[in-house]
Amino acid sequence: MSASRALLSSPHGGASRTFTRAPTRLAAASIPFARCGALRARTAILSSPAATVPVTSSEPKRRISRSVSDSAPLAKPAVLVAEKLGEAGLDVLRQFADVECAYGMSPAELLAKVAQFDALIVRSGTKVTREVLEAGRGRLRVVGRAGVGIDNVDLQAATEAGCLVVNAPTANTVAAAEHGIALLACMARNVSQADAALKAGKWQRAKYVGVSLVGKTLAIMGFGKVGSEVARRAKGLGMHVIAHDPYAPADKARAIGAELVSFEEAIAKADFISLHMPLTPATSKVFNDESFGKMKTGVRIINVARGGVIDEDALVRALDSGKVAQAALDVFTVEPPAKDSKLVLHENVTVTPHLGASTVEAQEGVAIEIAEAVGGALRGELAATAVNAPMVPAEVRTKLLEMSVIDCDYGGKSFF
Ligand SMILES: NC(=O)c1ccc[n+]([C@@H]2O[C@H](COP(=O)([O-])OP(=O)(O)OC[C@H]3O[C@@H](n4cnc5c(N)ncnc54)[C@H](O)[C@@H]3O)[C@@H](O)[C@H]2O)c1
Repeated sequence: MSASRALLSSPHGGASRTFTRAPTRLAAASIPFARCGALRARTAILSSPAATVPVTSSEPKRRISRSVSDSAPLAKPAVLVAEKLGEAGLDVLRQFADVECAYGMSPAELLAKVAQFDALIVRSGTKVTREVLEAGRGRLRVVGRAGVGIDNVDLQAATEAGCLVVNAPTANTVAAAEHGIALLACMARNVSQADAALKAGKWQRAKYVGVSLVGKTLAIMGFGKVGSEVARRAKGLGMHVIAHDPYAPADKARAIGAELVSFEEAIAKADFISLHMPLTPATSKVFNDESFGKMKTGVRIINVARGGVIDEDALVRALDSGKVAQAALDVFTVEPPAKDSKLVLHENVTVTPHLGASTVEAQEGVAIEIAEAVGGALRGELAATAVNAPMVPAEVRTKLLEMSVIDCDYGGKSFF
């Protein structure tokens, strides 16, 4: 069953769950499938029978939604926050929802709780599995991922359960890019190793001679939001930047002064390789014995994307053989990694505990971004950061709303 079909056929319950909306917001309803074009999947997944009532044809079409009762106080939706979220975001949530923060739940505790909530907000540490989504079926309508990577959410299962997944893709971009640059510079100058040695009473100036960045070739693997920001900053450091991204437009790369190349060319030419692609079946362990074998001897690798894109055993082998001179890693296949992890303990490896998004500014930004996205999704708006429904930019959305009011006038009823 295709994703959009699954969304359309999703029987979504919760008839008593509704809350006040702004009168001009889009209220998703059971829209005739064949007539609503691009809005089908999104409106279907957003459907919450209780959240809207059809407006009769005698009423003006510009009035696109109406709450169940304009006079009776409506119950607020319930939102479960499973991982720490900044106060600014919680404040936004509390304006429209009853919020419960339950940090550090076990998988069993999450399973037992999730059915009592309309929305669930997680960061990267909570696995939103098919089991969780099945447990929430009938009530859970929205999963919010406070951050960009959605590899901890079973998207297919969410779609089948009629659950919209939204993320906060922009607020931590600069933080992640800055962390990538911090790791690049730290690694090149052995900052963490020298720091640890000096604190242990060792003054080892000869041991920690570094390498320069200026004039070196940096390959950015994944030229999206973070990758392109890393590229900008690396240009400022005087590096020659090449990038591999099968989906990135060449003019975007050119505008930053980076050259888009094939995967093979990128890994063969680079002195430094910085990883910024999502973890997907196509990118899982894409850095493995074979790809390390094609790199320059002495290459240095930075990963602030996802641990799973690297075969970690292969990286240890490449470090031991000297093929890879150094690695700087913020992310791991299993987080936290084992205490005796050969990779983490390797003397040529610099590590941080998934700190890419951890700046004061990014935490606050992500908290607000996800709170607003979840609020919009619960109100039935066309969420700009939906992951399992088409994204609609604001300006297009305005046009679509006008058109869809006309297009969905069906059988004497307007459905918006
Ligand atoms: N360490 C952290 O705390 C932290 C913070 C933010 C983002 N991230 C991770 O960084 C990565 C990038 O985030 P983003 O916001 O830039 O995402 P993004 O979606 O903007 O960019 C990802 C880019 O990767 C490209 N891509 C997809 N498949 C690819 C492939 N096979 N080879 C090369 N490129 C490919 C996409 O076309 C896209 O341009 C993600 O994995 C995200 O989870 C980590």
